[in-house]
Amino acid sequence: MLRPIQDLFQASDFPNLLVGLDEPDDAAVWQLDDEKAIVVTTDFFTPVVDDPFDYGAIAAANALSDVYAMGGKPFLALNIAALPPDLPPEILSEILRGGAEKAREAGVVIAGGHTIQDKEPKYGLVVIGLVHPQKFFRKSGAKPGDFLILTKPLGFGTTTTALKRGLAKSEHVFEAVQWMKKLNRQASEIGQQVGLTTATDITGFSLLGHAWEIASLSGVGLRLSFADMPFIEGAKEYAAQYIFPGGAFDNRLFFQEHVRFDSRLAEAEMMLLFDPQTSGGLLLAASPDKRQAFEQAAQTAQQPCWVIGEVTSSGRIEVE
Ligand code: CO
Ligand code: CO
Repeated sequence: MLRPIQDLFQASDFPNLLVGLDEPDDAAVWQLDDEKAIVVTTDFFTPVVDDPFDYGAIAAANALSDVYAMGGKPFLALNIAALPPDLPPEILSEILRGGAEKAREAGVVIAGGHTIQDKEPKYGLVVIGLVHPQKFFRKSGAKPGDFLILTKPLGFGTTTTALKRGLAKSEHVFEAVQWMKKLNRQASEIGQQVGLTTATDITGFSLLGHAWEIASLSGVGLRLSFADMPFIEGAKEYAAQYIFPGGAFDNRLFFQEHVRFDSRLAEAEMMLLFDPQTSGGLLLAASPDKRQAFEQAAQTAQQPCWVIGEVTSSGRIEVE
C-alpha cells in the first residue's frame, strides 16, 4: 500500500530516517543526535468490545504498542477519533477517558488531537517516543539458534468475534479485555535491559503473519511449537466452532505458503494462528543466554512470557 509513497522519497535524501522507507517495521525512527532518536507511529480502529472505556483503553494500549515494539519509551500522544454525530456525549467521553487513563499509566501525555464525524466510530492515537539510535528493536536480525518469546497469550480475535455474535461467555471476554488493555511496556523494557535487538508486536496479521515478517526480514526460518503457545480461556472453544474474524481468512491466504503445519494439527488450531490480535503481545528473538536473562527478569517483574519456538535456517515457518 505504501509503495507509491516510497517512490517519492529516496532513503539517501533522509539520512536521519533510520526506519521508515526501505524496510517496513512497527514505527518510523528519526535520529536526533548520537544518543537520541524519536519513534513515531499511529493506529486507530473500530470498537472491539462493548464497553466504551475498555475500547478507549485497548485502542491506546495498541497504539502505544508499536513504540514498545521498537524498544522505545513513548512520552507524547494525540487523540484521533471519528464518531457518529448521534453518539451520546457520555459514550464519547468514556472512550477518551479510557485512552487517557491508559496513556497516563504509560507515562504519556495526550496533548491534543482531532475528531471528525463518521458513521462508524474509530479511535486511536498518534504516539511519539524516544529510543537510542543504536539500540532499537527491528524485525530483522533474528539468528538460527535464537529462541522466540511471546509476552501475551493468543485468541483475542476469535473471542471478540464470538462476542460480536452473542456467543461469548462473559468471563472469556473479561480475560481477553484484561490482556488487550495490558501495556507492552514492561516486556519492551526487559528486552532493552537484556540487550535484545529483534522484536515486533502481534496485531492484525496474526502470530504467523508477524512471525513471518521477522523470518523474512531476518532471512531465517522459524520452528514453532503449538503445545507451548498460550491461549486465553475459551479461545480454542470458539475456534472449534470456526468463529473467526474475516481477517483470519485473509491472513491464511496471504501467509500460508510460508508455513508447514504438522499433520497432527487440527484445522481450527491452524486457524487460531492466523487469528488477528488486537493489542497482542511482543514477539522477541533471544540468544540462549539472553533468553535466560529475559525469563529471569520477567519472573522478577511478574511479566508473563512463553518460549514458543526457535529460529532456524529453513527459510519458512514450521509449526509442530
Ligand atoms: Co506493530
Ligand atoms: Co500498527
